[in-house]
Amino acid sequence: MRPAITALRPVLFPAMVLLLLQHPVFAQQKMNQFITGLMAKMTVQEKIGQLNLVVGGEATTGSVVSTGVEEKIKQGKVGGIFSVSSPQRIRRIQELAVQQSRLKIPIIFGMDVIHGYRTIFPIPLGLAASWDMQRIEESARIAAQEATADGLNWTFSPMVDISRDPRWGRISEGSGEDPFLGSAIAAAMVRGYQGKDLSADNTLLACVKHFALYGAAEAGRDYHSVDMSRIRMFNEYFPPYKAAIDAGVGTVMSSFNDVEGIPASGNKWLLTDVLRKQWGFKGMVVSDYTSVNEMIDHGLGDLKAVSALSLKAGLDMDMVGEGFLTTLEASLKEGKITLAEIDRACRLVLEAKYKLGLFEDPFRYCNEARAQQEIFSAKHRGIARATAARSFVLLKNQGVLPLARKGKIALVGPLADAKENMVGTWSVSADVSKATSLLAGLKEVAGTGVEIGYAKGANVTEDSALEARTSVFGKPWQRDARHPDTLLAEAVKLAQSADVIVAALGELAEFTGESSSRTDLNLPNSQKKLIDALLATGKPVVMVLFTGRPLTIVEEDKKLPAILNVWFGGSEAGYAISDVLFGDVNPSGKLPATFPRNVGQIPIYHSYKSTGRPLVGDEFQKFRSNYLDVSNTPLYPFGYGLSYTRFDYSPVKLSKTRLKGAEKLVASVRVTNSGKYAGEEVVQLYLRDLVATNTRPLKELKGFQKLLLQPGETKEVRFEITTELLKFYDNKLRYDWEPGEFTVFIGTNSRDAAAANFTWLR
Ligand code: NOJ
Repeated sequence: MRPAITALRPVLFPAMVLLLLQHPVFAQQKMNQFITGLMAKMTVQEKIGQLNLVVGGEATTGSVVSTGVEEKIKQGKVGGIFSVSSPQRIRRIQELAVQQSRLKIPIIFGMDVIHGYRTIFPIPLGLAASWDMQRIEESARIAAQEATADGLNWTFSPMVDISRDPRWGRISEGSGEDPFLGSAIAAAMVRGYQGKDLSADNTLLACVKHFALYGAAEAGRDYHSVDMSRIRMFNEYFPPYKAAIDAGVGTVMSSFNDVEGIPASGNKWLLTDVLRKQWGFKGMVVSDYTSVNEMIDHGLGDLKAVSALSLKAGLDMDMVGEGFLTTLEASLKEGKITLAEIDRACRLVLEAKYKLGLFEDPFRYCNEARAQQEIFSAKHRGIARATAARSFVLLKNQGVLPLARKGKIALVGPLADAKENMVGTWSVSADVSKATSLLAGLKEVAGTGVEIGYAKGANVTEDSALEARTSVFGKPWQRDARHPDTLLAEAVKLAQSADVIVAALGELAEFTGESSSRTDLNLPNSQKKLIDALLATGKPVVMVLFTGRPLTIVEEDKKLPAILNVWFGGSEAGYAISDVLFGDVNPSGKLPATFPRNVGQIPIYHSYKSTGRPLVGDEFQKFRSNYLDVSNTPLYPFGYGLSYTRFDYSPVKLSKTRLKGAEKLVASVRVTNSGKYAGEEVVQLYLRDLVATNTRPLKELKGFQKLLLQPGETKEVRFEITTELLKFYDNKLRYDWEPGEFTVFIGTNSRDAAAANFTWLR
């Protein structure tokens, strides 16, 4: 052996050294050395320049737009640019930075890649409804593949703000109401975007947002103040941000809103104490669009004051507002901030660029050939179609769906032939001309044996001013100028000649999203009238509901025999909806947010606590916690969604009913597909801590599994429960579990679940 090793020594030794150098500790050291060396050459103004993020112009979300960008790049006054794409344009800008600025520091290129890049997946709330972590991760992977092929290296996603208020337009951009589901999705998205190696040319640096609590804006009005107890923050609103951090997300975006008297972008407790000290976040924090400047309107002083406040709080990069660029040097001279604070921020920005491999090759993401081949490919579109079909939620079905491939279908409604509406809000890079409308998809998927007629029937709303307010982001919406009666009559005539009516109704894409809050969540009157006229024909009516939020569709639920909620399913949604309507795909989505009966019930969510006067049963009782005019229950509960088949659940089986310390409990059920279609079911696990030192929710989601069952097939579903799942933050913010009695629920949604009790002692 010895002589052989000796002979191999010249090969083995360098290989081992190379391996050692790749070890995280050495890699970190190498990065630190490089950045320290670079920073030693930087002037204070150049360091501050790195903290400046400018907008390129494809999509802006505020009134301020960056100016003089080229000159600023040459002067080293730009650290990053967002909303510019294409390898050619990015190459040209990068050349300015690495050839014409003094220190040749490359620029980082960001974009809001939220639910797909050019191949658009369902809006995030829809993706969440799939409860399918593999598909969600894959959607982010594909988005990263396409975005990096188009020159980008940083995405402002995932958006993980918990929201229990469907008035808030941005509920569409997140994963809904639940911290457990939201955390799983946050981690899946980060894995999908960032992959295993950030410096690979097809992975994107992710940015979890909006830290923190943005989804709890008062009254559902965008950008409004947030005020909640810390115990609620830590138990219910923080977990998805933390899950993204634990999954290794590279950057964090601070939110617009006020938290405990200090807007998030200047809130030291949030950005330093919680994020960095408690959770160990090591990356950079970027502000939201002009959120530093906006603290002037919040009443915290002038631009200089709020910029200094933000830097000191732990903010590293200033999006668009240029408060850092224009005031930090003076603040430093006046002793209001320290050089160490500027250095911290600058180092974190440079580290992000280093990890992306930009110092090694600033043009790493500028590959024209990839842009040609990898964007909106047939493969990606196929995956988006399959994923969209699995995000739809069947809300009601009295034997109408799936449709038979015969006879005549009347496709009616303002959203039936509306490809520009399919991709949903905040799909900045979509080419809406390439999306497929429901009409086009239905014709293709139906095949030759089915006749399909189409009529619009109504405008989305009678309120043309409301409609006009939603025409942003290059998605102008054309109202039909014909008289409402003419539209209606045309649809009724078509419906009378059909066997079944499919009514494509609901919201315009931009009824949700940023600055799109609403106080009326009913279907607009024009659509209600259309439904009544269609029902009057006596033909079965299926409502295909387009929505970016839970709507109050109590009347429609009463009147219509079938409702399929399709959110905004993305560029392939026209096909995906048709796949589900014809039963080629069995719907398996489950609601990630509760559907209220009326706006007065908001906030409404499944994991509420008991009052001291809980209502027993459904009937109104005086001096109990309920309403005079509406029941406490939602229209559709969290986790709800039907299938074309039926799933029967056995009672819950527990491996033990008394446990101690580090033991493990297995809770299981047997689920049988008793119908005639193969189908996927999301089996959900909820827990309740019956007696504790603090009040606890009546039910909290603590596990879920999505499984496929053939007709007649039974599968056992097992959930392993450890004390980790019993932990919570108490009102001293101690995180632990408490011994005692618990209830476990397993079922098909948060309302319909079988229970069993167990005791867990220390
Ligand atoms: C404002 C939005 O709040 C945020 O989500 C987005 O990433 C930025 N604008 C950049 O477009």
